[in-house]
Amino acid sequence: NEGYQYIISSTPKPGVALIQLNRPKALNALCTPLIQELNSALRSHQANPSISAIVLTGSERAFAAGADIKEMKDLTFSAAYRDDFIESWSDLVSFLKKPLITAVNGYALGGGCELAMMGDIMYCSQSAVFGQPEIKLGTIPGAGGSQRLTKAIGKSRAMEAILTGNNISAKQAGEWGLVAKVFETPQECVDGAIATAEKIASYSQVAVKAAKEVVNKSQDLGIREGVEFERRVFHGLFGSQDQKIGMGAFAEKKKAEWKNE
Ligand code: CAA
Repeated sequence: NEGYQYIISSTPKPGVALIQLNRPKALNALCTPLIQELNSALRSHQANPSISAIVLTGSERAFAAGADIKEMKDLTFSAAYRDDFIESWSDLVSFLKKPLITAVNGYALGGGCELAMMGDIMYCSQSAVFGQPEIKLGTIPGAGGSQRLTKAIGKSRAMEAILTGNNISAKQAGEWGLVAKVFETPQECVDGAIATAEKIASYSQVAVKAAKEVVNKSQDLGIREGVEFERRVFHGLFGSQDQKIGMGAFAEKKKAEWKNE
């Protein structure tokens, strides 16, 4: 397990990495060493050419119950500001060009919900409980929750969740589009995420990278600039071998053998 204490990293299928948060006694509360391990695992998967997609999950009981409250409770403003507390969390996904699927079972609260929302695709099971309960602790979401939750489910629902600290059920998460799919059981959720990752890994990794990049741009750009950006990247892919391989295989009724070139 590459010397990790708080996570388990494995390769359940060719091209697919699985990272499991593993701090059961604290419901996977996201203490600094856990975030550091997660960061280093994600970086090593990003750098590894044999990995094409990554699944991140927790346990059946908790994806993660938030940032570590016991670690934060005595933190001062100056220390938080000076050391850029929580900034390392946003680094978790900013460098990640490979698709990340988060598979949520049990609690995904506070920083746990925020981490789940960093996934490119979110899945959950019926057992999942989402929420941003920071208001109950005298604070607010600090790892992107106010922005990502609002983009995902709209302002009114996000305001309600963040101002009341009320949980969001799996059913609501499915209906509101916070998650792409709600599975019956935790095992089905993790297996479903791995199957999706395997499917993504079976395509041209040049096209997969471009697809993630253009969808992500939609989060930051207006529609006109976004469509123009998409067209530039789309045109660029005519320069890839895999576009010739993919369209040639279709015309010849053959299976595409990607070169990732
Ligand atoms: N930080 C530190 N420890 C935590 C934790 C957290 N976020 N969540 C749970 N734990 C610990 C508990 O303290 C407890 O430890 P002990 O056995 O040593 O007492 C252990 O995990 C098990 O938890 P509970 O006994 O509370 O389990 P439960 O089943 O009764 O309740 C729960 C589960 C509703 C998730 C409850 O643990 C809870 O409310 N946790 C806190 C949720 C929360 O407020 N998260 C937001 C954190 S702030 C944040 O994340 C800021 C940000 O935006 C980055």
